[in-house]
Amino acid sequence: MTLTLVPWPSQVTEGGPGFQITAGTGVTAEAAAGEVAVLLREELGLADGDGIHLGIDPSLSPEGYRLTVTADGVTIAGGDAAGVFYGTRTLLQLLPAAAVAGPVAEPDWSLPGVAILDRPRFGWRGGMLDVGRHFRSKEFVLRFIDLLALHKLNVFHWHLTEDQGWRIEIERYPRLTRVGAWRDQTVVGRVTDDHADEQYDGVPHGGFYTQTEIREVVAYAARRFVTVVPEIDLPGHSQAAIAAYPELGNTGQQLAVGTTWGVSEHVLNVGQSTLDFYKGVLDEVLDLFPSRLVHLGGDECPRTEWRASQRAQARIRELGLADEDALQAWFIGRLGDHLASRGRRMIGWDEILEGGADPRAAVMAWRGRQAGIEAARAGHDVVMTPWSHVYLDYAQAEDASEPLSIGGHTPLRKVYEYDPLPAELADCADRVLGAQFNVWTEYMPTAASVEYMTFPRACALAEVVWSIERPPYDDFVARLRGHLQRLDALGVRYRPLDPATSTTSSSSGGPIRP
Ligand code: ACM
Repeated sequence: MTLTLVPWPSQVTEGGPGFQITAGTGVTAEAAAGEVAVLLREELGLADGDGIHLGIDPSLSPEGYRLTVTADGVTIAGGDAAGVFYGTRTLLQLLPAAAVAGPVAEPDWSLPGVAILDRPRFGWRGGMLDVGRHFRSKEFVLRFIDLLALHKLNVFHWHLTEDQGWRIEIERYPRLTRVGAWRDQTVVGRVTDDHADEQYDGVPHGGFYTQTEIREVVAYAARRFVTVVPEIDLPGHSQAAIAAYPELGNTGQQLAVGTTWGVSEHVLNVGQSTLDFYKGVLDEVLDLFPSRLVHLGGDECPRTEWRASQRAQARIRELGLADEDALQAWFIGRLGDHLASRGRRMIGWDEILEGGADPRAAVMAWRGRQAGIEAARAGHDVVMTPWSHVYLDYAQAEDASEPLSIGGHTPLRKVYEYDPLPAELADCADRVLGAQFNVWTEYMPTAASVEYMTFPRACALAEVVWSIERPPYDDFVARLRGHLQRLDALGVRYRPLDPATSTTSSSSGGPIRP
């Protein structure tokens, strides 16, 4: 095998004379592919001119493309502009690894003769980054999006609010970031359920994105055919918001922004004023993010405070609701209606099904395989993201030398062998929009630690959601070895492959032949 493409395309036919890209090579495009051509020229440092031609072929699938390299040059035809873009991602992977890191003064790159026909398996090919537990700079977020796009992933789920930090500027509620974006300190080491003997680092931590920065991120992503799906997590995971505006809570108590990990008991009250507050938040969110789907969280919301609150109990009676589960469903449902009134649609973690969810709501199924099956069976569109296979905060090996993590064990092979489409959903497969990995960052305090946990497992997930026919794992690992040179060129601090999996099966344990 000579081509180290990740994710692997539908059809690859190698042979015939190839093409040499030099400083004289240019990029031309039909109007509908013009923006992609501008980006490719920037990326490779090429001019407008002959050599690489980008166009549209409406007979190809949406997001699909055909790429041919002959002695005459490179032709990429896409079913649409996104397809052209994916063709250019494959072209980048046909070049020497260093080419992904930006223009060189005198390009002199040999391309093999090849014909590739390709299209994605799923429409939702995503990655989630939690910037609530540990804030990451705008520059890091742009780099993360670049890395998604290099792997033909097309959704960046931006988890923007948490107990430990509110990260999005909301102009009408300045305390959300003035107060909610900062915590005094952070717990040290692995946190246990009983929070016994916790030690703190004494170091303030925080940060947030201004609306100007968010607009820049959204536009940057759009150029790379990545949709940014914002998440405002509610009514749980809201301690930072309550610290900023105590009237959002149930007790009136002045809380601090969270400094330890776990599920906070401090959740939103679901009164009319809180609903109005969050409609205001969402109005600004919708102005910033064009994504049709907007994530309202809904996960891990303890009912303790609502059970103890006369106000919450009166609300349940007044609305004629069965219990606290129905109360949460009612609250999220009203915000879902608000999104719908503005032409958008809500997506939430699978707990939104507990008190009954609007059938229009899409569900992000995280609590195992069955959660996804039940959501789809109940008629919802579903994004599969089971903790068991694609939670990249889980350790990559059962090895004491791995960095501190939340626990678990999700090696590369397990991610690669995940199938988002269970056999039980064969008759309603179109409800499975796709899948995504999630990077929760309690135990990832630095940019390097995020990259270590994300890569190369994100490469495996990319092939899971893109490749129509996924090659065997050993084939993936052999290609990945070449692909990692691209990540090296980009300076990605990924976890190196295990010696046992970094070689092909013939040399991974058998006798060493002379
Ligand atoms: C989640 O992992 N709490 C969605």
